[in-house]
Amino acid sequence: MFSMKADKVRFFRFIRDLKLTEVEEASLIESSVKGEDGDYWLTQESINSFLAGYVRERNISLSKVSYKYPDYMESAGSGWLSVLKKLYEMPAAYPASLSPAQGELLKVILANISAKTVVEIGCFIGISTLWLAAGMASSNVRGRLYAIDTYVPKFPWPPFHYSCIVNPKSLIKEAIKSAGFSDIIHLIESDSKNAASRFDSWLGYNEIDLLFIDGDHSISGCKSDFELYAPHVAVGGYIIFHDIFPKYCGHEGPRFVLDNFVVNAPEQYQLVEMVTAPTNYGIAIVRKLRG
Ligand SMILES: C[S@@+](CC[C@H](N)C(=O)[O-])C[C@H]1O[C@@H](n2cnc3c(N)ncnc32)[C@H](O)[C@@H]1O
Repeated sequence: MFSMKADKVRFFRFIRDLKLTEVEEASLIESSVKGEDGDYWLTQESINSFLAGYVRERNISLSKVSYKYPDYMESAGSGWLSVLKKLYEMPAAYPASLSPAQGELLKVILANISAKTVVEIGCFIGISTLWLAAGMASSNVRGRLYAIDTYVPKFPWPPFHYSCIVNPKSLIKEAIKSAGFSDIIHLIESDSKNAASRFDSWLGYNEIDLLFIDGDHSISGCKSDFELYAPHVAVGGYIIFHDIFPKYCGHEGPRFVLDNFVVNAPEQYQLVEMVTAPTNYGIAIVRKLRG
């Protein structure tokens, strides 16, 4: 559940962005439940029904855009692929999550590199997390994936979707369990900077074999992720960035980091920039050559 008091800033941004009328605002607040802690909570059910009314009253035609699955995923009966498919069926998955084609790319890399320690910054609803873990599960090494996210509620993203996920952490936890990846994935509920200030408590002296950066896409956020985490990546290890083409994805951070720290340091980093489908937000695969 999502707490109105604790998440006040995001809540009021939500109200502002959707340009709610006073009546709608009042009805939303009224639909909240007062918890034992004295906080006001919005449940998934109450926000679903509120947003359904919002869309109906404004005659908004919902975007039907979603990712197309490869055939093997379409026919997935059970196991991790069926769990992944359910996540992809959530309207919020497009376009914020990796497409199946991009996810497969990550999976195949991990299936090949025998990674012991993988760190993901930015899990969103867990789609990339499952792709990464699936690659690790099919490698010859039992590794650990540390999945860092603030796990704050996910709000509507017009025109792509008008859905809200009030508790992404519990959604992801359930998906991990159903996919059978509980022994691989460890969730770290934190801002990436705070998580880095506590490396001792979770990373210890381990080096990172693969770092996936897909969290704060601003220049300062992405730069800070790179500066704090890249020194912990093993020589020969990989740093993967999502959303590297600002022209398509609208984010500047990953491009800035590549241009200012990677492209101009060929003795330290090997770089491959990949076009991606169906959205060409782009992926960069960086191999660290030197400490
Ligand atoms: C684009 S989404 C990630 C998509 C996901 N990797 C996927 O492909 O399914 C970005 C995520 O980063 C998280 N995030 C943003 N800034 C962060 C930060 N400083 N530390 C940790 N997580 C952050 C957000 O909560 C959001 O869930």
